[in-house]
Amino acid sequence: MSAPHHLSLYDASAPVEYGSLLQFSDDPIACMKRLQQRFGDQAVLQDNGQRLVFVFSPELNRQVLSDSQVFQSQFFAVRGSRNSSQRRVTAGLLSQNGAEHRETRRSLKDVFAKKALPGYHGIICRLTDELTQNWIPGAECDLNSEMVQFMLRMTSALLFGVDDVEFAERLGHLIDRWTHRNHEVGMGALVSAPQFAQAYDSLLKQAEELEQSIREMFAKQRTGHSDGMNILSLMMESVGGEQRLSDDQLVGHATLLFAAAHLTTAHTFSWTLFLLSQHPQILQKLKAELDAQVAGDIPRLDELEQLPYLDAVIRESMRVLPASSYSQRVTAEPVTLGNLHLNAGTPVIFSQYITHHRRDLYENPDAFIPERWQSISPSAYSYLPFGAGPRMCIGAPLAMVEIRTALTIMLKRFHFQIEPMSTVNGHVISTMLGPTSPIRATLMPPSDLPKTVPVFGSIHALVDLPEQAHALPRRRAA
Ligand code: HEM
Repeated sequence: MSAPHHLSLYDASAPVEYGSLLQFSDDPIACMKRLQQRFGDQAVLQDNGQRLVFVFSPELNRQVLSDSQVFQSQFFAVRGSRNSSQRRVTAGLLSQNGAEHRETRRSLKDVFAKKALPGYHGIICRLTDELTQNWIPGAECDLNSEMVQFMLRMTSALLFGVDDVEFAERLGHLIDRWTHRNHEVGMGALVSAPQFAQAYDSLLKQAEELEQSIREMFAKQRTGHSDGMNILSLMMESVGGEQRLSDDQLVGHATLLFAAAHLTTAHTFSWTLFLLSQHPQILQKLKAELDAQVAGDIPRLDELEQLPYLDAVIRESMRVLPASSYSQRVTAEPVTLGNLHLNAGTPVIFSQYITHHRRDLYENPDAFIPERWQSISPSAYSYLPFGAGPRMCIGAPLAMVEIRTALTIMLKRFHFQIEPMSTVNGHVISTMLGPTSPIRATLMPPSDLPKTVPVFGSIHALVDLPEQAHALPRRRAA
């Protein structure tokens, strides 16, 4: 048998496209779709001396995600100088590798373990109850902003024990602005463009403001101004009798946890509610399950265990519109990946969106079909909304409890009619796929079923919606 032929990136037959890396940062999903169509499982985008390597298959996902020694995380391209706020706020798990990363994961294990979850059930129910108490049948709302506000409050309460809307909004704003800037400056590390250099100074300033706000919140914790069980207080006590985490370390963890938790979960809620509203038969079937299995409109923990169709709906929503659409690693040493030789220091990108839309893994991959989950059980590298391997999302069990519980309460009390002919845009911002325009809807009593309506917008490039939506004129009538 002849040895497999491995290609250097300089070989004429290597899957390399020459073009600006800005194509990727402008529209990551469109860029990756094109590369996958042109080259298959592996592709390289090259811009002068800079290149991004993409993997699109479960087997290559496995190689990249399971070998954290070679494929390291360098999530924050700009770490800042030694004593800077930027250095401290970026010091969380996503900047750690090797033994340091393993040690932190081990020390946080109990805080996020399944057995800790019942402690959060009461807070999730109370905040969702309060959210829906403010909703009125017949009123219009923007599902996107409702879910973002809701998750700011929820995340601040669960992580930090702070149930203060103003504080949650301020911290959320500081974190989102800073995350966005990091992403811009991070691309600047790859592409030299004047706007990225200007962004650098403001990134450092934003990191200072953010650190100050996080430290104020620590002070609230210590003076007892926090409510209920929360993740930060468990981390402050520090876990398993180990050495306590210093405040500098806590700043990094708290920032990353908030940033990783709130928008990913908010986007998952928005997409799931949108998809259900556009698929009334699926909603009807789900409602029948919720009515049969959940006695009141606030579910008990044991009732939440008995909702297989709800689980299929959530799984399918996270398959077709995964809130985390891609992520990246950097090679720590030369390595052969698939049939390419890569030098040390090469960025490698894997994508949930592209993997989840592969025709060979999922029949009719662009459609929302929860029933498929009765007959498929994809591998950890074929279905990876929470990532896979040693860096798999540490908050996944908590996120799933939030989503299951809050969706049950919302759907027991309300349905949503999407506004006909409205525009629904979805786009990737800092690796996250979320709505980038309002999702306009009218609140309905749960005894009424919404109708599928035509909508405009970039959502059509991401998911197939039922028939009516396709019968749209190409342009909105003047
Ligand atoms: C639906 C909601 C969520 C989604 C879709 C999601 C997705 C992900 C993904 C894909 C990764 C892996 C990234 C990579 O491999 O580069 C990740 C990592 C992470 N997530 Fe989540 N996440 C969610 C909710 C949460 C929540 C609620 C928390 C915390 C309370 C959290 C904390 C983290 C942390 C700390 C990491 C880094 C883990 C490490 O590097 O070891 N996430 N998440």
